[in-house]
Amino acid sequence: MEVVIVPDAKEGGELIAEAMAALLRRKPDALLGVATGSTPLPIYEALANKVAAGAVDASRARICQLDEYVGLPAGHPESYRSVVLREVVAPLGLGADSFMGPDGAAEDLQAACDAYDRALAEAGGVDLQLLGIGTDGHIGFNEPCSSLASRTRIKTLTQRTREDNARFFDSLDEVPHHVITQGIGTILEARHLVLLATGEGKADAVAQTVEGPVSALVPASALQLHPHATVVVDEAAASELKLADYFRATYAAKPEWQGL
Ligand code: PGA
Repeated sequence: MEVVIVPDAKEGGELIAEAMAALLRRKPDALLGVATGSTPLPIYEALANKVAAGAVDASRARICQLDEYVGLPAGHPESYRSVVLREVVAPLGLGADSFMGPDGAAEDLQAACDAYDRALAEAGGVDLQLLGIGTDGHIGFNEPCSSLASRTRIKTLTQRTREDNARFFDSLDEVPHHVITQGIGTILEARHLVLLATGEGKADAVAQTVEGPVSALVPASALQLHPHATVVVDEAAASELKLADYFRATYAAKPEWQGL
């Protein structure tokens, strides 16, 4: 696992957007797995700026979703389908036909989850999967004690995650209890995992993810099992890492051509 400590969220966003741009230059129809929440927004802004400036052509990029709320009415502005279309797909100049996600309104939710796992495989697999991290260590919506081998399925949110996400809704009561999420096993199939964490509130989860044991109690620690996982953190999110100086020195000595 590579850990890159950046001064702030904007630089983290720029660094990751450049890695995505480099991927699109190599593979113009790359399948990009995107995450929701506040953290990845600087990535999407930086990537859209690169596209607008002509630094990369994203016209053949394909975008796929990591997780989704269950039970929100179709078209709800906080459904993750709406968020991804608004924050990622439209700013990149793509249409909804470039996008795939699980159907959180399906009558048979488990069939929709299975269909999504199949669709990801049939699309050739995810080339680069962006991840945020919950204060409880979740990735996607894989809450603590999710199986490390899990596939896309229905999960119940912890009270902590519902409280963390209440800021996107008018009240805590409106935050759904149930979600669909790519499983940890599904996420680990992506060719490159890139987790961005910013702010002091993520410091403990980041330290457990990077330096703690691999444990279902900290779902993000499954990144230790992936051959190409990159964790980008700002100084605040890095504040509990024992090996911070080592990570800084390693990255400072890395040849630029290697990218992430
Ligand atoms: P956040 O969410 O970026 O809004 O903090 C991260 C997550 O829950 O994965």
